[in-house]
Amino acid sequence: MKPLNVCACVLVLAFTKLVSGDIYFHNPRGSNNRLDEARRDRNNANRLFDSQNNDRGGYNVGSLYYYGTSILQVEWTNQHSCADVNDHCELVLQYMCGPHVRDGATTATIPDNRLRCQNYNCNTDLRYGMHEDYNYYLMCKTRRRNMGLFTADQNLNNRNTAKFTRQNPGGTRRGFECPEERDYYPSWHPSAWIDIAVMTNNVSRCEYYQQESQNVKERWACILPVETIEKSRNIVLPNNKEDCEAFESDGVKAEWHKFAAHGVAAPDCRETEFSRDNHLGNGLGGHPNVYNWTVPNIDKDSCVLRIRYNVSTNDYDPWNTNSSESANPRRLRDGSKVNLAEKYGFDSESTAIERGYIFENNPEVKVFGDADFTLRLAVNTAQYGRTFQDRSHTFAIMKKPESASGRIHNLNVRGKRGNIVQVYPAVEYDFVPNTLELTQGDMIHFQWTGSNTNPNNNDGQGLAGTDRSNVVLLRAQQYAEGSGWRFGPGGKYGHWGVNYPMHLNNVTFLGLDRKSLETLAFLDPGQFRGEMSELDDAGTYFDLGLHSVTSPAGIYHFMCTRNNNFSNRDQKGRIIVYMHPMAQSAIGAMGGKVALPDGSLEVMVEPGTFDSLQKVSLQKWSAEQGEQRMRTKNREISFGEEYASSFYVVSPEQTMSASGKGIMTKMSITTDDDDVAVYRSNTENFATWVQVTGVQINDGVASFQAQQGGVYVARTKEKNVGLIVGITILCIVIIAVIVGGVIYFKRHPGKWLAVKTSCRNAGRSMQSKV
Ligand SMILES: *[C@@H]1O[C@H](CO)[C@@H](O)[C@H](O)[C@H]1NC(C)=O
Ligand SMILES: *[C@@H]1O[C@H](CO)[C@@H](O)[C@H](O)[C@H]1NC(C)=O
Ligand SMILES: *[C@@H]1O[C@H](CO)[C@@H](O)[C@H](O)[C@H]1NC(C)=O
Ligand SMILES: *[C@@H]1O[C@H](CO)[C@@H](O)[C@H](O)[C@H]1NC(C)=O
Ligand SMILES: *[C@@H]1O[C@H](CO)[C@@H](O)[C@H](O)[C@H]1NC(C)=O
Ligand SMILES: *[C@@H]1O[C@H](CO)[C@@H](O)[C@H](O)[C@H]1NC(C)=O
Repeated sequence: MKPLNVCACVLVLAFTKLVSGDIYFHNPRGSNNRLDEARRDRNNANRLFDSQNNDRGGYNVGSLYYYGTSILQVEWTNQHSCADVNDHCELVLQYMCGPHVRDGATTATIPDNRLRCQNYNCNTDLRYGMHEDYNYYLMCKTRRRNMGLFTADQNLNNRNTAKFTRQNPGGTRRGFECPEERDYYPSWHPSAWIDIAVMTNNVSRCEYYQQESQNVKERWACILPVETIEKSRNIVLPNNKEDCEAFESDGVKAEWHKFAAHGVAAPDCRETEFSRDNHLGNGLGGHPNVYNWTVPNIDKDSCVLRIRYNVSTNDYDPWNTNSSESANPRRLRDGSKVNLAEKYGFDSESTAIERGYIFENNPEVKVFGDADFTLRLAVNTAQYGRTFQDRSHTFAIMKKPESASGRIHNLNVRGKRGNIVQVYPAVEYDFVPNTLELTQGDMIHFQWTGSNTNPNNNDGQGLAGTDRSNVVLLRAQQYAEGSGWRFGPGGKYGHWGVNYPMHLNNVTFLGLDRKSLETLAFLDPGQFRGEMSELDDAGTYFDLGLHSVTSPAGIYHFMCTRNNNFSNRDQKGRIIVYMHPMAQSAIGAMGGKVALPDGSLEVMVEPGTFDSLQKVSLQKWSAEQGEQRMRTKNREISFGEEYASSFYVVSPEQTMSASGKGIMTKMSITTDDDDVAVYRSNTENFATWVQVTGVQINDGVASFQAQQGGVYVARTKEKNVGLIVGITILCIVIIAVIVGGVIYFKRHPGKWLAVKTSCRNAGRSMQSKV
């Protein structure tokens, strides 16, 4: 090794040790640049992309296929908090598909010198994993970097192309990823990444993200033929129109070229869910932080999912600090020009600087001005404002089959073999979603994969080093749980508190036929006989294909017989089958819409209505189901003539709006007659029904601004309003008479009670409360 290389290694090591916050995909499985290596650490952190994650992260194998329109619960853990006070946090979720997108067959990084690739074509050299392609990186490494960016006191002198950034001042290459694109979002140059969602702690930026996303907005770039760029060393392609049009190399003129928008909807943008610092685990309530991705309905052989996790501090305003505050390139040691005086309450900038309040690497500050000693702060200006990343292994997308009806839900397995310490920062086995909620008639897609090359000494059952899973229903419930009304009349099947499977001869599980149940249990077909008591002879990949859920409503608890070793770890999941149509969505300050699959109920939340993320869910009960539910609470409906709609349940039940604005609700009613009123009650006990005001009836739809969740139902108005008015007048007359007739009622108390009751009832019918 030449001394120069030693030096570079030391630098890289120093860098890895500074890791302070990471992100790891768990479903789909994140690679963190791994490729089935048998060691605990990945071989090569620079293989495909720059994760800045710990070397132990990532899963060996992760390729599955997903049906278009299916719902995929994307799960991850992030280490440095989100939606909390310690930092600004952004999570950007994207995917990319392409004929050359691949995992590769070696852990070496793809060369960026074509001469070192087969047939001089790196794009088609299947030995190497590749996401972004050769041409993309060629443009990146030759394009002038955005010189307006804040680079703090990092040395970017004479490092003028987009492969050099504040976070990557050495210009290190990882796969064909472009460092400038990686560090900044939205990127101002074209890329193949399609935006899915941006989750941010400050949704006031959402509009900007949605307008600027390449999903909807074209990009421009300065282009030259690849051969021309390759020919001339040290070429720096301009990054703007004016310079581009004046640029030529080797007699070839550059062209300012338009790259069309991806032509898909703008990304979803909403608040991040809460996670705390220094903790790679679940968010609030012990639930993993997730994004439910509706997979696009396309046919693609090879795609990859990407998540970036951007943490920035409040020490300077990261969104409004630019190169004018970077250090003087000739005097980097003076630190950046970010003025910390005002922020930290010094009278002048010179005092701040004198006391060491400088935005630079590891400043030494004098906390007590008069004392002589200093405290050294662990500031790394390449990492204050830092982006982590993970990407999935490649996966395929298949168009939803014509024959498929109902929504499709993916049910996968996350985690890898080992105990919690051996697998960290990955997780132990679990099903994803751990609790899946769906409706009778929806479809479920059981599918998972794993590896045969986990470290051999990692704990687990069956053959050392191997991941296997199966699904069997757990034994009958041990005690009754609730009335089950939320999911409709149905039972609770199996129980998490036991570890023996149900004997399946007389129990249905999701309505799957016997053959499918056996397939789920024995992973057959895929494996024909063999030693299967611990599934050892099966392959790593399992697919049950699409199945309709036809079973009775209920809660089904299931487990994996192989990995569930109660004294050490559980692998248990739950599927809640509702008999009613239902839908749910996480809606925050940006507003949003959620609708039942049949369109009979639609709830629209205007931007600015909520002040935090809420999981809004909808259900529909038939009138009989509603009545049945009410009977269990000894309630009945005594107003209106007859039902003009189903019962529609909107939750959460409490007032959702922080702003006092209502939530636009549109529910189908069964009559065109506008002689219909809508009533609301609470779902727990139906204590009071209140007539909803401001209801517009149009074409069989009742629209109104709901102030809160609850159960809504429409009833035709009573035809005998005249009678009620009559009774009321009668009451007034009677009361007048009472004044003179107190004595009569004093003598006949029973008669007074009768009058009082009928008057009260009449009065109620005239108010909105009933
Ligand atoms: C940097 O920001 C300042 C103030 O926000 C602005 O006046 C200036 O034009 C910006 N400079 C660049 C290079 O973007
Ligand atoms: C990360 O945040 C910084 C502000 O600190 C912003 O300039 C940058 O574009 C963001 N990058 C990503 C990938 O979100
Ligand atoms: C959120 O972002 C907007 C626009 O970028 C900014 O004006 C506002 O101060 C930010 N709010 C917080 C709490 O950071
Ligand atoms: C995602 O879907 C699951 C149901 O499968 C649900 O429990 C969860 O609340 C959803 N999360 C979000 C953030 O939408
Ligand atoms: C269950 O786990 C314990 C501890 O790791 C192990 O000793 C035991 O062999 C496991 N059981 C089976 C059936 O593998
Ligand atoms: C299954 O069969 C047993 C014995 O015949 C019976 O006691 C049990 O109730 C049955 N379970 C169900 C869910 O039908």
